[in-house]
Formats: sequence, C-alpha cells, structure tokens
Amino acid sequence: MLSRVPGGAVSRAVLSFLHAPSRSLFCAIAWLAALLLLAGSTLAAAGPELRFLRAGTEVNRLPLSALREACPVERIAVDDPFYGRRKSFYALPASCALELGLGALPAPGQNLFLRAADGYVRPTSFDDLRAASAWIAFADADLTPSPEAEPQWEPIDRRQVDPGPFYMVWGGAGQSDPHRYPWPYQLIEIELAPLELEYPHVVPDAAPGSPADRGFALFRRECIACHAINGEGGKVGPDLNVPQSIVEYRPVEQIRAYILDPASFRFSSMPSHRHLKEEDLDALIAYFRAMARRKYIPRADP
Ligand code: HEC
Repeated sequence: MLSRVPGGAVSRAVLSFLHAPSRSLFCAIAWLAALLLLAGSTLAAAGPELRFLRAGTEVNRLPLSALREACPVERIAVDDPFYGRRKSFYALPASCALELGLGALPAPGQNLFLRAADGYVRPTSFDDLRAASAWIAFADADLTPSPEAEPQWEPIDRRQVDPGPFYMVWGGAGQSDPHRYPWPYQLIEIELAPLELEYPHVVPDAAPGSPADRGFALFRRECIACHAINGEGGKVGPDLNVPQSIVEYRPVEQIRAYILDPASFRFSSMPSHRHLKEEDLDALIAYFRAMARRKYIPRADP
C-alpha cells in the first residue's frame, strides 16, 4: 500500500522532471504513471464512497474519510442476524450520514431506497431510520485495529460475501429481524424518493385496506428488496409478475408453502418467512393476482 506523500514532494518531483528535458519518452511516461499512482493512493486513503440521491439525481458522494470526520464514530456491538451472533463494528449513526449526504434529514414517513452492490434494493420508511439505534458500519471491529485503519470484514451470510463497503446495522432490542428492519450489507447508495417514482408499476389498482393493498404493503416491506414486479424492484430473485405471474404457473398452495419455507423445495438463497400468518399469505396472493391483471413489460416501452 502506498502512503500519502506531502504536496511539496510532488511539486519538487515535477520541477526536477521539467529541469531535465533531455530524458527519454519512456522516462516521461514513467513519471506520469508515478503521479497517477500518487493521485490514486490519495483517493484510496479517503476510502470507499457512499452515494446520496434525491429523486434520481446524485446530490453527494461522501468518502469514508469525510463521514468519519463529520460523524461521531463508535465501536458498537449488535445481535447480527446474518452472522447469527453478536458482532462488533466501527460505525457512525445513520441519521448523521443521512443529514450530511442529503443536506437535511428527510421528513417523517418519506421513502428511502437503500441500494447494495449485489442488486439488492431495500425501500424503507425514514421513520425507522430515525431511531438512534440505526448505524452505518464501515469496518469489523474485531478484525480492524482502529477506526482509521483499512477496513477488514468477515465474510457474511450463506453466500459468504464481503459485507463492505458499508453495512446498515441496528443496536436496539428487538431490531435484529431483517424483515422488520433493513440490514443491507454491501451498501453503496441511499436515495430519497417516493417508492412510486422509481417503481411506478408495482402499485396495485386496489382499494385502501383491501387484501391486495395489504399484500402490497407486505411485499414492499419483505419481498421487493429481492424481487421485481413488472421489472421494478430488487434483482436478487426472479421477477414475480412478468412475463408470467407466479400465480399463473404455480398452484397457490405451493406458492404459500414456498414463501414460508423455500429451503424445503430447493437449496435456496431466499430466506424463510415463517413469521407470516395465514391472512398475510392471503394478502400476498391477492396482490399477485391484482398485478397479474396489470402487466407491464419494461422492454416493450419505447
Ligand atoms: C433476500 C432475498 C429474497 C427475499 C427477501 C425474498 N425472496 Fe423470494 N426468492 C429469492 C430468490 C433468490 C429466489 C430464487 C429461487 C430460490 O433461491 O429460492 C426466490 C424465489 C421465490 C419464489 C419462487 C419463484 C419460482 O418461480 O420458483 C417465490 C414465489 C418467492 N420467491 C416469493 C417471495 C415472497 C412473496 C417474498 C416476501 C415475503 C420473498 N420471495 C422474499 C430471494 C428472495
């Protein structure tokens, strides 16, 4: 790893290069490469970046160094649902990162999209993130010697992937359920936008409080991070509406059983949803049926 070089050393190096015009082209290229490397190492020292958007427009790109400087960094311990045990991280309060990145804290109830590098996109209400117990972790505190050191991570989840560069974690009692609270690892982007703006074709034509409407609320909270409807949503699992809706090619009883316990069908990367009640499954099926009548094929759009 290259270390930072004070600016004076760089300009002295450039001057001595200019004073030696007789050097060969090869030498010039070598110098340029060295300068580029220096610039690169300065960037690397700033660390990975977290992007912030408002309604599709980038408003900020904050390197870890800027986040660490502006927000109080703490060593925290949480009950981690993906490691399945208590874990320690270096982290900063999510509300501090949001305020810094978006320029102001969102209003209560506003929708945020949390995007991960692997295609997982978790929409979430800001009400949840306001809680003081939401953190953005940037290093595994058991493996990284100090908050300023190069972040190290232990591989996470069944897929054993690197959870960096950022991982949203929760410290409060009862907040270890990733269905209720967003725990996105590989977090790279946070967008403030209404769900309908990014996902206009996932909304059912259903009366408020109807089964399809309740199913939509459930789908938003528990499924859309991995599954798209009409091409809109997460890309970890298959689209559940197009070209064929799940209710068009699988018997309803099988869909219900699959949602509760996918691992009884296949070695699956979909989590089980045994906490869902009969009426929750009814609502999800009503939502799928409503959407099967509202198909939209993204590619067919001009
Ligand atoms: C963490 C990601 C993730 C979440 C959350 C998730 N799924 Fe899945 N789902 C998958 C993946 C990946 C598959 C592909 C097959 C597999 O691995 O089981 C899948 C497959 C399915 C299938 C079978 C599709 C087929 O044609 O065989 C259904 C039905 C389904 N999911 C419904 C849901 C519902 C409903 C929810 C929310 C209650 C949900 N999933 C939540 C990742 C997820």
